[in-house]
Amino acid sequence: SLPRVYITRQIPPEGLKILSESGQVQFDLWDSDDVPVPRKELLQKVKGVDALVCVLTEKIDAELLDAAGPNLKVLSTMSVGFDHLSLEELKKRGIRVGYTPDVLTDSVAELTVALLLTTSRRLIEATHEAKSGGWGTWRTLWLCGYELANSTVGILGLGRIGVAIAERLKPFKVKKFIYTDVAPRPELASLIDAEYVSMDELASQSDFLTVCCALTPETKDICNKDLFSKMKNTSIFINTSRGGVVDQEDLYEALSSGQIAGAGLDVTVPEPLPTSHPLFTLNNCVILPHIASASYSTRNAMSALAANNLLLGLKGQTNHLKH
Ligand code: GLV
Ligand code: GLV
Repeated sequence: SLPRVYITRQIPPEGLKILSESGQVQFDLWDSDDVPVPRKELLQKVKGVDALVCVLTEKIDAELLDAAGPNLKVLSTMSVGFDHLSLEELKKRGIRVGYTPDVLTDSVAELTVALLLTTSRRLIEATHEAKSGGWGTWRTLWLCGYELANSTVGILGLGRIGVAIAERLKPFKVKKFIYTDVAPRPELASLIDAEYVSMDELASQSDFLTVCCALTPETKDICNKDLFSKMKNTSIFINTSRGGVVDQEDLYEALSSGQIAGAGLDVTVPEPLPTSHPLFTLNNCVILPHIASASYSTRNAMSALAANNLLLGLKGQTNHLKH
């Protein structure tokens, strides 16, 4: 009989269509997009499957892999991030892992630019003032923010997404791009004429600092008071990677004390961030509910790529994460 697949979410139609029309698998899915599959149900459903499609709300760890059992050969995540996967446990079991880089780069870069401008030009505060009666008169310094023209933009973790962001910001007359990473990435950096600097230089020179690295044990809490204390008090911090790279208490401190001018976050810890969280009380913090890749075309492309990665993986081929 055909290999059995479990899909942990009602993913966008293109991926489901590919799996149906392939005639190569039989699948079952958690038929909702509004609530994640409860862990208990997931542990039941994965029993004996040959392959699994997941999204970033599912923790793929030893417990889950043990529940699935030895038939499981392929894990395909509909995400570019992989911090929800225990790569070591997957490797130990010889499970191939697919993910969805590249197809979301444009969408994430667009959203990052939108979030950056929303934060630096204080658009959320401004619409609120306009609507709520705060618009007393045109004022000379009211709702002033910071502009990209002549600025230095710093990229923490230079990958495809960082390059795509810089390419979009360049027409705003950014003066200089700088970046840091575990090592220089000259081939990517040359695309945007970015200079490799230390973490300290990135902090002290950036007018806009945008985080584009993966969340790993090495990058966890890498944006902490040490970094914020070196930033200019006119600088804007943007994170569209993973919430875990930021120490949120330190960020709150930096924002509320005026150590930095503002922050735009598409990702937090936890997600959803409780509505009572102190960051929500700050006018200079813009928080989005993890929507960087959320365009119809990109989410369908991610779904299709996740499906194709799964089918390739079952054939022993890979467009796959090295681990
Ligand atoms: C989104 O955050 C992703 O990892 O694809
Ligand atoms: C991931 O961070 C990428 O650069 O695609």
